[in-house]
Amino acid sequence: MNALTRKSAYALLAAAFLALLLAGCATEEPPAPSYSATQPVSDAVAVVVPDLSENARAGERTFNANCVLCHGPNASGTGLGPPLVHQIYEPGHHQDFTIQSAVRNGVPAHHWPFGNMPPVPAVSDEDIPNIICYIRELQRANGIIAPGADIAAC
Ligand code: HEC
Repeated sequence: MNALTRKSAYALLAAAFLALLLAGCATEEPPAPSYSATQPVSDAVAVVVPDLSENARAGERTFNANCVLCHGPNASGTGLGPPLVHQIYEPGHHQDFTIQSAVRNGVPAHHWPFGNMPPVPAVSDEDIPNIICYIRELQRANGIIAPGADIAAC
């Protein structure tokens, strides 16, 4: 094998490996919506707001003070962050501890083209369950959680 064919053989191998990797990822989770990185992103979704429980209303206040800038009113999304009332964030795919972890540790960009979410230290540990309750009640009212399902965080 001369140097040139060896080089293209390596390139082929690398391409095949990459394709395998991508195929592997695609079977693990539902594909994120695809956007062109050069497009302005506006992902706001229409959200039905239910009659919130008391805990969810407390969560809404904390959410509006700390999260609304990026996640939008009623977690409907903005040009800075995704809607949390979205199938991607149903509890089977993003359990409650992922919401807790997002607030405490931030989130590296992985589903969307918005960039990383920074940690939100202004929110106390005691406030987090109410935020989770709020997000889950919104999700339940919008068909992401079964109607009537119990929400542990509430
Ligand atoms: C500065 C903007 C910004 C703020 C403020 C912000 N977020 Fe985020 N958040 C993001 C972005 C961007 C993502 C999406 C990251 C990705 O998956 O690409 C995200 C993702 C998330 C996720 C998904 C976590 C995961 O595991 O994928 C949750 C839950 C979340 N945010 C909750 C919150 C809550 C609750 C607050 C307020 C306490 C908050 N965010 C404040 C930008 C923000």
